[in-house]
Amino acid sequence: MQSVLAPIDIQRVRQDFPILDQMVNGKQLVYFDNAATNQKPIPVLNALAHYYEHDNANIHRGIHTLAERATQDFEASRQKIKSFLNAEHIEEVIFTYGTTDGINLVAQSYGRKFLNAGDEIIISTLEHHSNIVPWQMLCEERGCVLRIIPIDNNGDLLLDEYEKLLSERTKLVACVHVSNALGTINPIKTIIDMAHRVGAVVLVDGAQASSHIELDVQAMDCDFYVLSAHKLYGPTGMGVLYGKRDILNAMPPYRGGGEMIKEVTFEKTTYNDLPYKFEAGTPNIADVVAVRTALEYMESLGKENIAQHEHELLLYATEQLSDIRGLRIVGQAKEKIGVVSFVLDGIHHQDTGVILDQLGIAVRTGHHCTQPLMSRLGLAGTTRASFAVYNTKDEIDRLVQGVLRVQKMMA
Ligand code: ALA
Repeated sequence: MQSVLAPIDIQRVRQDFPILDQMVNGKQLVYFDNAATNQKPIPVLNALAHYYEHDNANIHRGIHTLAERATQDFEASRQKIKSFLNAEHIEEVIFTYGTTDGINLVAQSYGRKFLNAGDEIIISTLEHHSNIVPWQMLCEERGCVLRIIPIDNNGDLLLDEYEKLLSERTKLVACVHVSNALGTINPIKTIIDMAHRVGAVVLVDGAQASSHIELDVQAMDCDFYVLSAHKLYGPTGMGVLYGKRDILNAMPPYRGGGEMIKEVTFEKTTYNDLPYKFEAGTPNIADVVAVRTALEYMESLGKENIAQHEHELLLYATEQLSDIRGLRIVGQAKEKIGVVSFVLDGIHHQDTGVILDQLGIAVRTGHHCTQPLMSRLGLAGTTRASFAVYNTKDEIDRLVQGVLRVQKMMA
């Protein structure tokens, strides 16, 4: 479906999200924890219920009608993801349990086969723990070296420093597309091109980018792209690993079990073709089926329209929060999605979060699974408000009032 840049009727959109219509601690809920997970619209809830009420069966195994229907729905989602990412081949779309699972798959399969002692892996200061720890584990096992791209105080990557880190020793670059903690949108195409010039493969962590930015893995030319459905208005526990076909073909399976085999004897097992080689065991069928509906839902609103709305919220929130004395916004990168992290003078972020929750406002507080980033910024944590399509400027006004209340209560 072609999207047209047009204002979205947010009040109508809100009706698609029944969870928003509730009182929390006696106040109308304001949900600003969308970077952790966003809410699910009625069509997605219906798709899940419909699957379990009508089609539930195991896939690729049965010859009965329900198994056929479940298999068709499951594979239709793969097709949908292929076009969502603009992947060249359908078998480049691997279903996982989420972004973390996808990164671990690449680290354990690609990394163990192709990386050796002394090889270097580059990540950035902005990474989520999920894009740090799997590489540390690999480095420990294989004797590789982890290098880190530094940032400036605004939360932008220092590309000059990145250039200096790149060498013939660099075998893999794993970089976040959009920072979950600060909202920075990284110049991912430049990062990928620079890595390719020294022959390194690139994995992009797209967990935070996927619902906000138009994706095209062919134009990006990334070797791997990972994302989670639950940040796309879809279900939890389901994700995608995109990988270039030749690279995936060269990688050994990660987990053993059903569906990833061609033939098993006690002496030897031969493995299935892509994408099934990487999909051992009964997958998360219902959630895979429902993610297609989530993507259709986003298409019906127009991804650019969603991005435009969220950008307006970002500008408004930045302006309003900046006016509060004693509040400092953390992360003022040149390009950002709708994430505002902030600290309050003399007030612990946890106290801020607890008081805001009493006022019905859901934010995330703490290190946001980015402890090295927080440490670089000299912070224990921040309070983070993150926006989705259903949020409004009135809700930002509630946040501003909430912060003033926090300051008053903690004075
Ligand atoms: N990565 C998620 C967040 O940023 C959980 O909150």
